[in-house]
Amino acid sequence: MATEKMEESVKRFFVGKEKDLIQAKRKNITVGDRDLLIIYHQGMFYAMDQHCYHAGGSLLNGDIEEINSKHCIVCPKHKYKISLAQGECLYKASNPKDKTQPPRWYSKGIKQRVHNVTVLDGDIFVTLSEIPKWIESDYYQTENVHVKQYLI
Ligand code: FES
Repeated sequence: MATEKMEESVKRFFVGKEKDLIQAKRKNITVGDRDLLIIYHQGMFYAMDQHCYHAGGSLLNGDIEEINSKHCIVCPKHKYKISLAQGECLYKASNPKDKTQPPRWYSKGIKQRVHNVTVLDGDIFVTLSEIPKWIESDYYQTENVHVKQYLI
């Protein structure tokens, strides 16, 4: 469970020491009432909802691939690709109207809620996203789903 600190009127949650997260590269943590995945990849920290928007799979052990210059985590369950920075789901497909063209990457839009990460004096803090619209990964953060996941 993350600890809460108030700074500059922004609610930031301490999620770990920078050196520990660099070493671990991944960490599941509950922040407020959300289950998050913190990732360190190629010099950057990212935070996103821990359960994949598609069917709730854990993203903890997903591979990371670069797709269209975006670092994406590949959900271990059904291989959906989700950008670390925006939570955008990318998929590859052919144009059904032009079969002569090779398949290319398309976006399904933002499906996974991502959160802001701040590094302060060797500590890592997360500020939860306050984007008011529904993002599909929100479903797996609701209390009913939390209960089901822990009973299974
Ligand atoms: Fe299906 Fe993640 S749960 S792709």
